[in-house]
Amino acid sequence: MLTELLTTESEAATREAVNRASSTLHTGEPVALPTETVYGLAADALNPTAVARIFEAKERPSFDPLIVHLPNKTAYKDVADVPEDIQKVFTQLIETFWPGPLTIVLPKKALLSDEVTAGLPTVAIRMSNHPVFTKIIRNFGGPLAAPSANRFGKMSPTSAASVMKELEGRIPMIVDGGACSRGLESTIISITAGDPKPAIKILRPGPIGPEELKKFGKVDKVIGNPAVEENAPEAPGLLENHYAPTTPLRLLESPQDFSPEEGKRYALLSYRGQEKDGYLDLADWVELAILSPGSGRLAEAGLRLFHVLRQLDELGVDEIVAEPFPARGIGFAIQDRLKRASIKSQS
Ligand code: TXA
Ligand code: MG
Repeated sequence: MLTELLTTESEAATREAVNRASSTLHTGEPVALPTETVYGLAADALNPTAVARIFEAKERPSFDPLIVHLPNKTAYKDVADVPEDIQKVFTQLIETFWPGPLTIVLPKKALLSDEVTAGLPTVAIRMSNHPVFTKIIRNFGGPLAAPSANRFGKMSPTSAASVMKELEGRIPMIVDGGACSRGLESTIISITAGDPKPAIKILRPGPIGPEELKKFGKVDKVIGNPAVEENAPEAPGLLENHYAPTTPLRLLESPQDFSPEEGKRYALLSYRGQEKDGYLDLADWVELAILSPGSGRLAEAGLRLFHVLRQLDELGVDEIVAEPFPARGIGFAIQDRLKRASIKSQS
């Protein structure tokens, strides 16, 4: 299959991309689309055959449910039920964070097929704020199921070129909307009623950090392997040690954790490339990749993480060594992805 790449470099090109993507989606084919977090592989959420095409292209096991993207804030009513006792906090959350990188797990409506939710009684929903995604889903006019546009178990793509590497020949179309502004997958939460405050459980850390969610309820943070185990029934996809390069990755807690082995080649993934942090001189690095040079900005580090990891993965080093990141804001999500990547390396 030929994979077409549509640009959005001019208004005319964008108009054409929107129309063509939307009609391709209507025929039941999947199309890779930019979102503010990562590129998604979208298909008509209400057409089980179209949804099956996503699983095929990604080689994703059918037990891993998809996120459903909405064309507007009220469209959640078409696919999900909001229990009475969390309606207030749900409304506050979507008023604050939608459109944006917050995914909320809710009881699903019956019209949504088991293909989308992997047979779960719940559905994960979000509304992207990417301008191109927004135009396409509005033109399409209904909910789109869209997981990250990578083959199963690989890192999420943050550019159209990375999608091409992952899925060329497997899907008919990719819409290029430039580099993703967040670079990490959305924060996924579930909500339960609670007294005096609702309980918000972070199933997958992301761009919306625990600090921001705290204003709306009691936040239950989960990170790393124990969290994955604990969440198994709720988020089957999180069981996989996703988000990993092929090269083994080691996440350090402090500079004392590491001394190089004779003859091995290492690359360093550094937060801000500062001598005083104590990592730069630990080895004779084949490559030193700095995510946010200078004083270090977590948002910049987050949006570059997967892009830089893909580059380091192509060097053919024995190991990628990663500095720890401050676990606040999006740093919490960066640490989560690096922990998962390092777990995969060990297994
Ligand atoms: O930023 C994002 O969320 C991107 C963009 C494309 O929107 N999408 C994304 O989708 O990361 P995906 O499929 O790669 O990851 C979705 C995760 C999976 O780990 C899946 O198991 C979990 O969400 N999930 C989906 N439905 C769920 C549900 N009903 N309950 C719990 N977890 C769910
Ligand atoms: Mg994914």
